[in-house]
Amino acid sequence: MALEITPGDFCEDHVISGKKLSKRIRQEIANEVERLTELHGARPKLVTVIVGEDPGSKMYVRMKHKACKRVGILSEGYNLPEDTTQEELLELIHRLNQDPTVHGILVQLPLPKHIDEETIISAINPDKDVDGFSPRNIYRLFYGGELLSAATPQGIVTILDSLGIDLDGMHAVIINRSTIVGKPLIMLLLNRNITVTVCHSHTRDLPSITRQADILITAVGRRRSDEDPYFITADMVKDGAIVIDVATPHGDCDFEAIKCKALYITPVPGGVGPMTIAMLLKNVLAAYSFQMAQTNVLTTYAIDYGSYVS
Ligand code: GUN
Repeated sequence: MALEITPGDFCEDHVISGKKLSKRIRQEIANEVERLTELHGARPKLVTVIVGEDPGSKMYVRMKHKACKRVGILSEGYNLPEDTTQEELLELIHRLNQDPTVHGILVQLPLPKHIDEETIISAINPDKDVDGFSPRNIYRLFYGGELLSAATPQGIVTILDSLGIDLDGMHAVIINRSTIVGKPLIMLLLNRNITVTVCHSHTRDLPSITRQADILITAVGRRRSDEDPYFITADMVKDGAIVIDVATPHGDCDFEAIKCKALYITPVPGGVGPMTIAMLLKNVLAAYSFQMAQTNVLTTYAIDYGSYVS
């Protein structure tokens, strides 16, 4: 799916609207879903799995199902009890891996402590791994492939790409080193020839580093204190920087103060959040297209083979 975006179309008064950009992407995905469903005679389907009762996880997964429905992607959800064993969860994943009507599998994280996250993620068929967390998809990302990569980092680079700015050689500072955001984002930025610095809770003199950023990406999600709530204040931002605030439900940035000196800033809500969901839909569509193409190749071989033996 080639996305045609006019640079800067989604920015107003230094603010980048992830909401508007994601709406545009979702429209293109919806068109593609209809075209491919007609072509292949099967609709793409995402299956989500939650273990336990975490209200935040349930809310995020509900949003994912709603987004699927709006673009014509089928979706089903398994909500397993907190005491589900690792073996039971693996059994479900193996069943979904084998099911040809399921094109995307998403196990919502975090999982309960008695289940090993890495074992579960590694068990998902990489072709159906719409989170891009499985070993093969991470390996591919290392070599420059981005087809099934993590949704939030993809949302961030899609925002940056949409600005129509030459990012080559820019210095990006990421404040986050998680496997869901910071680590995959390093690769996506390096793939665009961006110089990357990663900061975390042990980083010394954070402001001296953030002030060097042409692109500052922050995903801390913690307020400093009631009196001094913002993790990123205007004095920590270079004039003319691009600031991407990934934190939820409250942004890390002193938005109003930073807006006055940044070239662009993303709001919270309405910035990276809607882009994450749009990128998940894009991954489901990519996984579906790939699996359909594989099925067609196998069918063609079967027909050819049949013609030799008859
Ligand atoms: N928990 C928080 N973010 C994510 C995500 O992007 N994918 C999954 N599977 N779990 C999450």
